[in-house]
Amino acid sequence: MRAIVISEPGGPDVLTWSEVPDPVAGPGEALVEVTATAVNRADVSQRQGSYPPPPGAPEYPGLECSGRIVELGPQTEEAGWKVGDEVCALLSGGGYAEQVAVPVGQLLPIPSGVGLVEAAALPEVACTVWSNVFMRGGLRSGESLLVHGGGSGIGTFAIQLAHARGARVLTTAGSREKLDRCRELGADVGIDYHREDFASRVREETGGAGVDVILDIMGGSYLDANLRSLAVGGRLTIIGLMGGRKAEIDLGRMLVKRLSVHATTLRSRPTAEKAEIVAQVAEHVWPLVEAGSLRPIVDRELPLSQAAEAHRIMESSAHVGKIVLTN
Ligand SMILES: NC(=O)c1ccc[n+]([C@@H]2O[C@H](COP(=O)([O-])OP(=O)(O)OC[C@H]3O[C@@H](n4cnc5c(N)ncnc54)[C@H](OP(=O)(O)O)[C@@H]3O)[C@@H](O)[C@H]2O)c1
Repeated sequence: MRAIVISEPGGPDVLTWSEVPDPVAGPGEALVEVTATAVNRADVSQRQGSYPPPPGAPEYPGLECSGRIVELGPQTEEAGWKVGDEVCALLSGGGYAEQVAVPVGQLLPIPSGVGLVEAAALPEVACTVWSNVFMRGGLRSGESLLVHGGGSGIGTFAIQLAHARGARVLTTAGSREKLDRCRELGADVGIDYHREDFASRVREETGGAGVDVILDIMGGSYLDANLRSLAVGGRLTIIGLMGGRKAEIDLGRMLVKRLSVHATTLRSRPTAEKAEIVAQVAEHVWPLVEAGSLRPIVDRELPLSQAAEAHRIMESSAHVGKIVLTN
């Protein structure tokens, strides 16, 4: 088969569309013929050499895909899938390819009303947002959520999901155009982080109380301002380190306000944990997608052979939502 190979760590041009050995469905795995995959920031870090695939994961980038099951490995009978089923999948890697082997616990059906290509934009954001904002962060209806980077793949999904589940959503983004899109998706408050101090604006918008949950992609550079933006009992869930991995933490503030800080990554979790997240997404998130309360936000589609161009677009942050790559 062909796949996008990272010839050496570097810029987008190190991504080459190459002939590689076919993957094999091992025990507990399905072989999926990939219709589409989608680009994640993590793929950019992997290409640059700073985010290697976890042990046992395919070496090619790609954390999600949609397609058709073409083979089922041993010990997959109980999962109920059959050859020919259309699926989308959360991957540990290998989505930038014509075929990928995936544990059956990481397969999801294509939600009704969603096309096979656009479904590739859903698994990574749905699993990341569900596991962090709801499983870890425990966001409840009537509470408030601050989403950093509302125009990102993650952000556009988090806004829709929190809004659909009855939360008040505040979001930051880098331009008025992105904030307008965020409001269309259900954000109640948009904050341009280039022009405004987000912590002051959060205080203003919440009558001084702060928000209940924050989904953060910045890490170190935002830690103090995030803690200042949380309400009593607030939960900070950090999923990205675009602003660095180190910062000083004011434990006094945490004690007084009874705050918690969580930091997680989805990719390196054990297969059983991923399967639990995927099962919860199928139960709690897919019905909202099928009801039309949530939709995949696809900025554009490109052929997989043009993955380098897709990475250039992602690094420019010109996109809103997901960049999808098709076979
Ligand atoms: N831990 C996990 O399991 C996990 C899983 C998936 C994704 N992630 C992380 O989630 C983040 C988003 O991923 P993605 O694939 O959705 O990437 P993406 O679409 O490329 O989004 C990145 C966004 O960050 C925004 N941004 C940059 N600086 C910002 C700032 N100071 N404040 C607010 N927003 C800022 C950019 O837009 P503007 O600056 O124009 O607003 C852009 O929209 C990445 O850090 C990724 O590594 C983590």
